[in-house]
Amino acid sequence: MTVGDSLDFSHLFSDETKARKSSPLKSCIHLFQDPNIVFLGGGLPMSKYFPWDNLQVESPLPPFANGIGESPSGDAKDTCHVQVRKNEVTKAGDSKDIPLSRSLQYGHSKGQPEFLSFVREHTQLVHGMKYADWDILATTGNTGSWESTLRIFCNKGDTILAEQYTFSSSIYAAEAQGVNVFPVPLDDHGLIPERLESILDNWNPETRKPKLLYTIPTGQNPTGSSLSDDRKVEIYRIAQKHDLLILEDEPYYFLQMDAYQKDPSQRKATEFASHDEFVKSLAKSFISLDTEGRVIRMDSFSKVLGPGTRLGWIVASAKILKAYLQLHEMTIQNPSGFSQSIVAGTLNRWGQGGFLDWLIGMRREYNEKRDVAIDALYEYIPESPAFHINPPIAGMFFTLNIDASSHPEFATKYQSKPELVEQAIYEKVVASGVLVVPGAWFKALGDTQPPQPTSSKQELDPNGVIFRGTYAAVPLDKLREGIKRFGLALKEEFQL
Ligand SMILES: Cc1ncc(COP(=O)(O)O)c(C=O)c1O
Repeated sequence: MTVGDSLDFSHLFSDETKARKSSPLKSCIHLFQDPNIVFLGGGLPMSKYFPWDNLQVESPLPPFANGIGESPSGDAKDTCHVQVRKNEVTKAGDSKDIPLSRSLQYGHSKGQPEFLSFVREHTQLVHGMKYADWDILATTGNTGSWESTLRIFCNKGDTILAEQYTFSSSIYAAEAQGVNVFPVPLDDHGLIPERLESILDNWNPETRKPKLLYTIPTGQNPTGSSLSDDRKVEIYRIAQKHDLLILEDEPYYFLQMDAYQKDPSQRKATEFASHDEFVKSLAKSFISLDTEGRVIRMDSFSKVLGPGTRLGWIVASAKILKAYLQLHEMTIQNPSGFSQSIVAGTLNRWGQGGFLDWLIGMRREYNEKRDVAIDALYEYIPESPAFHINPPIAGMFFTLNIDASSHPEFATKYQSKPELVEQAIYEKVVASGVLVVPGAWFKALGDTQPPQPTSSKQELDPNGVIFRGTYAAVPLDKLREGIKRFGLALKEEFQL
């Protein structure tokens, strides 16, 4: 099948992006590698002054027969040895490794070729890209990618759309840049397409229309919900109708699991007969539906290899990524060279299949953690219509939906204000020795001036509050204990 090029979305760029010029110094840096050029053009220290000659790391070896939580023994049978030397052995891109003389040097703002080629192949394998001029840019993870995205597309006073509850850092990063985050309601299955459409159809024409939908489709933070493939198709259609870009922030994409079965005897962890079967089991991404270059996908190694790698990537059209590259040349320059050398050295040895084996192992681990958390919620959260559990099928988070109006003192002590009940629950749970965090911390509350119609701001459940917990951070015994404390605190608070 031949596929076409992406559309041009440069009309959606911010004033800053439209004004930005490429640094002329960056236009000649590649000549540093050219043996025919005596390079007197830039302040690049000679690599002999880099004190590291040889970087060696060990990781487990695919197919990770003993699971993914075990340290490798150091023996060749279960250990992947990565050795990265200072000096270039072969031409850039010809080897598995990024020599330190290059990774620790300036240049390669787009990312090192050995890293990019792995991620490009992975992207095609998993998402089956549907237009020709897509590309990849190395990043320092999704936090930085989001900050860049805001600067590339938004002017002060612009409004973007996001799930009603969303990752708080993303809201605060937007607000700090003077960008309003207008909420779109979500339910147990993620963002509600009908509400998105109605918000956009009824957008107050006296205000600037949103250019961007920020969404966390898989294992949404904080609600733990995941968008169905059908909803994604609908949302993409709405984005086309309203000339909206979709920004999918997907750090939890590979933490997809089996649906929760309440009865343990019915549980049977899916075993994949092949990598292909695993890939086919994954939810469709927005970028896999994209034929126009309307989707920008932010991926990160934080949740599957380690947050301190500070390494991730963006997938988008080459036209859009050019703007990111120009910004990064003047901000981050590039993700850490150590990180790229270690991660590319490891992944290029594991291979695409080995990385998928790792992700399958990760899925297995989180499946178990999720089951333990949800079992404990059903065991310890008092049975009452006041509480609703929505077992996640992806990610690291569970939420408990609470009907604040069921609190016996809702109308009296709390003046019928759900946020006061939420605060009281929060104080009670912390005093009970467990930390789960209130939905208020994640609530997008932005509006335009003049405001949007009241119907657009209508919440699904005005007395509903949520609490977010994670099954990622502690071992299973502590997880159960924490949820037990949470349940006891609620029992006391709601006098059950
Ligand atoms: C939705 C979402 N986006 C981004 C991040 C941060 O990712 P990174 O470590 O890649 O910056 C998180 C981390 O909690 C997250 O939940």
